[in-house]
Amino acid sequence: MAFAIELLNITKGFPGVIANNDVSVHIKEGEIHGLLGENGAGKSTIMNILYGMSKPDEGKICLFGQAVEFQSPMDAIRQGIGMVHQHFMLMPDETVLRNIILGWTPKKGICIDEKRAVAEINDIMEQYGLKVNLKAKINQISVGEKQRVEIIKALYRKVKILILDEPTAVLTPAETDSLLDIMRRLKEQGCTLIFITHKLREVMDVTDNVTVMRKGVVTGFGPTSEMDITKLSRLIVGKEVSTKIPMEKFHPGDKKVLEMKHVSTARRPGRMPLKDVSLVINEGEIVGVAGVDGNGQTDLGEVIAGLIPAESGAVFLDEKDVTRDSIRKRRKKGLSHVPEDRLKTGAARDCTISENLMLNMYNEKPYSNKSVMNQKEVLQTSEELCEKYLVKTPDSNYTIGTLSGGNMQKVVVAREFSSSPRLLIAAQPTRGVDIGATQYIRTKIAELRDSGKGILLISAELEEVMAMSDKIVVIYEGEIVAQFKRGEADEYEIGEYMLGSKRQEVLYGN
Ligand SMILES: Nc1ncnc2c1ncn2[C@@H]1O[C@H](COP(=O)(O)OP(=O)(O)OP(=O)(O)O)[C@@H](O)[C@H]1O
Ligand SMILES: [Mg+2]
Repeated sequence: MAFAIELLNITKGFPGVIANNDVSVHIKEGEIHGLLGENGAGKSTIMNILYGMSKPDEGKICLFGQAVEFQSPMDAIRQGIGMVHQHFMLMPDETVLRNIILGWTPKKGICIDEKRAVAEINDIMEQYGLKVNLKAKINQISVGEKQRVEIIKALYRKVKILILDEPTAVLTPAETDSLLDIMRRLKEQGCTLIFITHKLREVMDVTDNVTVMRKGVVTGFGPTSEMDITKLSRLIVGKEVSTKIPMEKFHPGDKKVLEMKHVSTARRPGRMPLKDVSLVINEGEIVGVAGVDGNGQTDLGEVIAGLIPAESGAVFLDEKDVTRDSIRKRRKKGLSHVPEDRLKTGAARDCTISENLMLNMYNEKPYSNKSVMNQKEVLQTSEELCEKYLVKTPDSNYTIGTLSGGNMQKVVVAREFSSSPRLLIAAQPTRGVDIGATQYIRTKIAELRDSGKGILLISAELEEVMAMSDKIVVIYEGEIVAQFKRGEADEYEIGEYMLGSKRQEVLYGN
């Protein structure tokens, strides 16, 4: 079988780091090719090169046997390459429709033929079971929906080669299953797919061949049928990785770290508001929120953190009413928050890694004295945090935007976990994070719980919620519809509550 893509001896450097060092990847026509590797291994870099977004320092690209040189993504798009980026490239103030047809607009005379575009997009949505409201603005839709927009956009351009850079990181298990189905269907139709993911089960499930990278070089490749999860993780990390989370026995304290009493939030475009939510988290307890994305999880995290107000009801931190307190005040009282959208609310994009790590503490001793920053202390602490939380960067003085996706997430986690919280809200804490660092973050959450902190774990991964939580609440259409202790229900039962086909009669606080 001919190769659809040959990436030959690609080298690409950035200041202080060689992101790709003589990397060669061969991808057969009509296959699903898994591209794997730790955070910062160089996966997005080489795919950006293939998509014409950046130029390699050395090496060449062949498409269907022909050498090509792209000056911009437009050249790649013309050759039938589509890319769903790790961090979406959509225009937030424009509608879904405009985003999809941008640069690819059907015309009627000199006017845009929107009707034709809508008909074609509706066809695609129907054919692949992808649903989004074309009239909604991007800034009003959930991350899962943005993902769908990116995929529809690629399909609309009739791609022959589709690059998917961690598409499942933001999807729920059901959405993931349907994306994997879409990928299989595209393959049947002759499309060649490159699939980046940290979830090895997905790799085993859907790919034909894999290439594994570590620190900018290829460490292994071959047919998926000759791989298994242990072999893959060894190629990715370079050694065995355990997936056990060391959790001490559950010893919750009596004190309530968080209490929500009948909290409702206002309706916002693209958001599911909370309806009469009551919830308690004790000291030394992890409460996990299970639910299909878009059922109020975002409002739940944000109303506790103070990013949005409660319309009615009250929020208590350490038994003190904080309902009207500002974000800063709540944080002073011991609240930490890893928000679900690391780029929007988790990090200041134009600031350095060090500044992002110190956002909580820069104005406190020993980091500043009488409004003068002590750069030495700041740098030392940042470097320590980067090392501890496995943030891969040559220097914490680089802007956070130069980091790979997973490493940005680790910066946010490092800042929030290290501020000795009383209550930690961890929304999708391991999203986009590689297997080694995921294990580290989960272990840290367990440690925080064992040292008496209260933790609210919001995760689209039911497996993560079930493995970590002492108590599980199920959220459906903005309401808490069920509550279980660890081990009381299996994933199928929880699934029924998540889909709204069942609800418990009596819940805490009602
Ligand atoms: N624009 C840039 N400027 C400076 N350094 C960069 C830039 N883009 C990437 N890098 C660096 O190149 C290396 C590879 O990054 P890349 O984004 O390709 O990793 P990745 O394998 O996609 O990781 P992840 O799984 O976290 O997404 C990292 O060390 C990153 O910090
Ligand atoms: Mg990446």
